[in-house]
Parts: sequence; structure tokens; C-alpha cells
Amino acid sequence: MTSAALPLQPTSGNDRFNAEAASWETNPFVHEASKEALKAIMTRFPALTNPPAPDKGLEVLEIGCGTGLLSCLIAPYAKRVVAVDAAPGMIEELEKKLQTAQTPQNILPVAVLLENPEDKHLPPVDESNPDGPRLKFDLIISHLTLHHVSNLRAVLTTMLGCLKHSGSVALTDFEDNGPEAKRFHEKAKMAGVQRPGINAQAIDTLMNEVGFVNVRVERAWSMDKVVEKYDGEFGDAPKGPRQPGQGEIKSFPFLVCTGQKKYCQ
Ligand SMILES: C[S@@+](CC[C@H](N)C(=O)[O-])C[C@H]1O[C@@H](n2cnc3c(N)ncnc32)[C@H](O)[C@@H]1O
Repeated sequence: MTSAALPLQPTSGNDRFNAEAASWETNPFVHEASKEALKAIMTRFPALTNPPAPDKGLEVLEIGCGTGLLSCLIAPYAKRVVAVDAAPGMIEELEKKLQTAQTPQNILPVAVLLENPEDKHLPPVDESNPDGPRLKFDLIISHLTLHHVSNLRAVLTTMLGCLKHSGSVALTDFEDNGPEAKRFHEKAKMAGVQRPGINAQAIDTLMNEVGFVNVRVERAWSMDKVVEKYDGEFGDAPKGPRQPGQGEIKSFPFLVCTGQKKYCQ
């Protein structure tokens, strides 16, 4: 066997998200979750509503943007949102939305599994030097995505490398608060799921180890979700209709994980 580098992410997740892209926004849960994420981010980053100067809005990078639900919500408060997703099908849906007048136009959709802060898919610092160094960001967001990432250390390291000095991350996902957390996903939706949510202590430790400073991991909101009473109750169809009496409602806490890149002179 050759020693070709292993991909950081399995492709099964991409297959699943490409297949689900066109119907992603028919699920009210993902709309509600993005609105809650926006609230959690806005309260922690007042510079979004009060930039240092009118022309000094924040450069925002979203990793795992999907169809751009959160990108579209945060874009009116940002100078620009670079919206990255590893599943090209998700990015195609965002590109379609960008053709409509109601979608903020300061969003740049990018289909890439981002593993390198100098990846040429990211915009350059200087538009007149397209092959030069890549743009660094004031704020990196990532919502409902970390539980799909197999190598969290690698992704956090990439995020740190994509930040300006003193730039911040705000990572939102459901919490792994015990054995019940695995019920967040029904059996037919397990492709690409790497962990049952985010463990607060583990992400805090990892963010510090990777080099973030001022790390804070907080419970920000909770959401009710209809879950299977037992594994496979909803069947194998990707979105099977619920019969009367099927499933039960369970509340899931969500974390917001913030941290900064150290300022270096
Ligand atoms: C559960 S979806 C959430 C999408 C969107 N944030 C939302 O809330 O609607 C997770 C997304 O993360 C993307 N993803 C997973 N790992 C990624 C990575 N390392 N880089 C970029 N995208 C990734 C998947 O392709 C998928 O679209």
C-alpha cells in the first residue's frame, strides 16, 4: 500500500449533504437553530453592530455554511462573509439564493474542505495579486458542523491560521451532555456524524492546546427536537413521514465556544 495522505474527513458526509442540499431548508429546525446561533454570536461580538468605523465592518468566515442560513443572517452586520462548505451541493443552493434580490450580496460562496489557511479558494489579501497571501478574518463562525468533523484539532488549527491577530471564533453546536445526546440524530441520518455533539470540557481543553486565548465555552440556548423512541423508529428513508404516536420530544442544549488569536506585534 502507498503512503498517500488520508483525507481528514470521510466522504460519506459529503454524499449525505449533497443529497440533502435541495431540501435542507424545508426543515424548520435548521432555521430556528441558525436564528439562535445569530443571537448568541451578536451578544458576544458587539463590533458586528458597532464596527470601529462605518467602512471597517468585520470580515467573517463561516466553515460548514451549508445552504448559507447563518451566512445570510449575519451578512447585514459584516463587511463580507466568505461561506465555505465541503459539500458542493450545499454551495450550489447558496449560489441559487444569491441570484435573488432578498439575499445579501456580500457573501462569497466557496466549495472546499478547508485544511490550509493559504488555500487558493480563499480570497487574496490584495485583489491585484490573486496568487498572493490569503485574506485573514476578524471572526470565524461554524454552526452545527463540529460534530461532523473527524479531526477537530486539525480544523481548529486551520481556523486559528485563518484569523487576523486578535480575531475570534464563535463555534455553535449541540452539546454532548451525556448518553442521551446521541438521540439528536435519527438512525437514517448518521452518515458523516463523527460525535454525539460537543463535549464542553474537551473542546475547552482542545481550543487552549491549539493556541486560542480567552477561551469560553458556554451553554447558550436549548431546542426541542422530535427524536426516535428507539433506534430506527423513523425507518431508513432520509426524511420519513412521522406517524401519529411516533417519536418523542427531547430538549438539546447548544454550546457557543469562543476564543481569540493572540495579538502579536
Ligand atoms: C449539519 S450541516 C449544517 C449546515 C449549516 N451550518 C446549517 O446550520 O444549516 C453541516 C455542514 O458542514 C459541512 N462540513 C462538515 N465538515 C466540514 C469541513 N471540515 N469543512 C467545511 N464544511 C464541512 C457539511 O458539508 C454540511 O454542509
